[in-house]
Amino acid sequence: MCGIVAYTGSNQAFDFLIKGLQRLEYRGYDSAGIALLNGGLSVYKQKGKVQDLIELTKGKDVHGTTGMGHTRWATHGEPNQINAHPHVSQNGDLAVIHNGIIENYATLKEALLKRGHEFESDTDTEVLIHLIEDIRNHEGVDLLEAVRLALNEVVGAYAIVILSKNDPGTLIGARKGSPLVVGIGKDNEEFFMASDATPIVEYTRDVIYLEDNEIAHIANGELKVKTIQNVEKTPYIHKLEVTLEAIEKGGYEHFMLKEIYEQPKSIYDSMRGRFNKNDLTFAMRSLREYESKIKNLNRIIIVGCGTSWHAGLVGEYLIEEFARLPVEVEYASEFRYRDPIITEDDLVIAISQSGETADTLAALELAKEKGATIYGICNVVGSSIPRITHAGAYTHAGPEIGVASTKAFTAQVTVLTLIALGIAEIRGKITKERLRQVFAELEVLPEKVEHVLKNCADKVLEISERYKDAENFLYLGRGVNFPVALEGALKLKEISYIHAEGYPAAEMKHGPIALIDENMPVVVVAPKRGYYEKVLSNIQEVKARKGNIISIVTEGDDKVKSISDYAIEIPDTEDCLVPILATIPMQLLSYHIAVMRGCNVDQPRNLAKSVTVE
Ligand code: M6R
Repeated sequence: MCGIVAYTGSNQAFDFLIKGLQRLEYRGYDSAGIALLNGGLSVYKQKGKVQDLIELTKGKDVHGTTGMGHTRWATHGEPNQINAHPHVSQNGDLAVIHNGIIENYATLKEALLKRGHEFESDTDTEVLIHLIEDIRNHEGVDLLEAVRLALNEVVGAYAIVILSKNDPGTLIGARKGSPLVVGIGKDNEEFFMASDATPIVEYTRDVIYLEDNEIAHIANGELKVKTIQNVEKTPYIHKLEVTLEAIEKGGYEHFMLKEIYEQPKSIYDSMRGRFNKNDLTFAMRSLREYESKIKNLNRIIIVGCGTSWHAGLVGEYLIEEFARLPVEVEYASEFRYRDPIITEDDLVIAISQSGETADTLAALELAKEKGATIYGICNVVGSSIPRITHAGAYTHAGPEIGVASTKAFTAQVTVLTLIALGIAEIRGKITKERLRQVFAELEVLPEKVEHVLKNCADKVLEISERYKDAENFLYLGRGVNFPVALEGALKLKEISYIHAEGYPAAEMKHGPIALIDENMPVVVVAPKRGYYEKVLSNIQEVKARKGNIISIVTEGDDKVKSISDYAIEIPDTEDCLVPILATIPMQLLSYHIAVMRGCNVDQPRNLAKSVTVE
């Protein structure tokens, strides 16, 4: 869960490395460091953010046409300067940056200590570079072979890059379980490596995504790929489609705000070309190819973490409603360790923005091993989950850089809606008329999202100002809007550090109601459809205990409005699409409160965007 970046070519590496680290900072920001080859091996590293590293390197010699950089989310060892990457070998000739966890590092370290190695840091990563050096010295092999042999001894996950003082112009990268992209510059004049394509896209569109257990070796202007089993590979060169604008703030103060406002487009992109409302057909290849499987499914299991798990819960309501097929939604981290019962007639759907979340990936691998058909709903193209699934659908939301997930969630829910309808159609559980109605609403959804964004902006600012100092928040919703309440609460707590809980509205009286007093803001999703009267009663229960009601209501509904302290209106839509519209004001509320409290909304404390450790 760190960001790594590397360069070799005819230009100076430093600017690319710093800019690349800034683009990857969403992956972790406990410390940052770089190493440069310039006759010797210069390493600069610092606790804190990339900006702190920039300060550290001011006035220092940072020349060098080969180098690498790292931004860390701490796992082994506290976030300080010593534990920051790069780490160097015993004799100082080799350096490594690493994203992942070397699980057997303690055993390896013990053996190396016996052979006279001394360690500076508490990290698993330092052990790896000592091991490589040890193998090179004792086996008399070259660096590439030493790396290969060392990786055969390693248990765990890694994306690494290695530099050697005595091998100028050489980069060695390898991956297992953590992503590594290699960029190929024009005429092979320069090469890039990074955890994702964002640092690279400005320089080249030709990339290869390393597969697990592959090593990329760049030397003398040539790239070679082999496996750790020593099998040469011919890498497939992908063309990057992401644009530079998509990864820049484009005039917004924060990525999160930009991403919230991108939702009319990202939702449109997530459904574009996937259904035809005139002849009521689907153009989702992933469903069509598995038609016979879908017809015979016993059940669907959805796995995910955080926001993606919330999207899964929405999916459960939608699939059960439309396709009348049982759905279970599981935290990937729990599912993978509890020996779940899975059969060949199960479809296991993993939802993940990054496509790299370690727990989700492992849950999916387990389901595959047990014979289930596995399906991925991911945003990052070429990431690990889409590469191991039998089928899947990208959400096409575009790069999401703010750590708090926003447009990825609404795109996931959109795709899940299409999947629910598609499965329903394949299994003959939905009428043409009903399909027509939902398609018609889906088609105008981006406009309605646009409308919500415009209409609620001032009201949300006013509410944020009023409640920015609250210590607790409750979020309530019923049915398909219960996960929306969970998502609203997660969004607020992760970026503003206000304690917030989401509950099914009717569950409130079984405990949380004890928390309600005149200081408790309660956000209630109360659309005119669904369980309207029931939610109205729940609101009354809060009011009776002097709680403050912030309701999300259907335009024109004066009943809930009249008993709310604040009401935010959203346009009427199909029940199944309310979660998308209702989420938007909640995202804005979290955003504004966090900004008013002086929090770093794009990089909230202790979090990282892509959680590649369990
Ligand atoms: O990349 P993924 O969707 O698999 O990530 C899952 C969670 O880590 C993620 O949704 C997290 O909860 C976000 N911080 C939510 O805003």
